[in-house]
Amino acid sequence: MDLSNFREEYLKGQLHRKDLAANPFEQFQTWFDQALKAGIPEPNAFSLATANAQARPSLRTVLLKYFDETGFVFFTNYGSHKARDIEENPQVCMMLPWVMLERQVIIYGKAVKVSRTESLKYFLSRPKDSQLGAWVSQQSSVISGRTLLEMKLMEL
Ligand SMILES: Cc1cc2nc3c(=O)[nH]c(=O)nc-3n(C[C@H](O)[C@H](O)[C@H](O)COP(=O)(O)O)c2cc1C
Repeated sequence: MDLSNFREEYLKGQLHRKDLAANPFEQFQTWFDQALKAGIPEPNAFSLATANAQARPSLRTVLLKYFDETGFVFFTNYGSHKARDIEENPQVCMMLPWVMLERQVIIYGKAVKVSRTESLKYFLSRPKDSQLGAWVSQQSSVISGRTLLEMKLMEL
């Protein structure tokens, strides 16, 4: 399939150093507010790139749950592929694809675990169904089918 005719003119805005906040977190807050106002679906969804000890990259979508000057927080299963990559190599990259605004934000950094209290607080804040889903599913692992998850759920 030839996609060469998909062409957009990117005219929505310009990026000038003088318009940028000196503090990147402040700048991120401004852009996040603009993404919200623009009605971008799931503006907190971002691509998270990790690489294992052999530098094999992998990428997936996760949700940004909090941010402040100490960092950007997402939650995941510590047994997942991404978590295993991060154990081996904490350097990660995240990208928020706000294509509707003709904008993307790319952030490089080192991933660290939040405290158990913070993890637990988030877990308890989730709807019951999501809590149960997280409890029974072994993220990133292959399963024989949905029945297996339903059986695990019935054992709880
Ligand atoms: C819109 C969307 C949001 C997602 N949010 C999360 C999330 O916040 N945390 C998470 O662990 N997985 C999330 N996932 C699932 C991941 O993309 C991924 O499939 C899963 O975490 C396993 O990834 P891994 O095998 O690379 O570790 C989301 C998927 C989609 C499509």
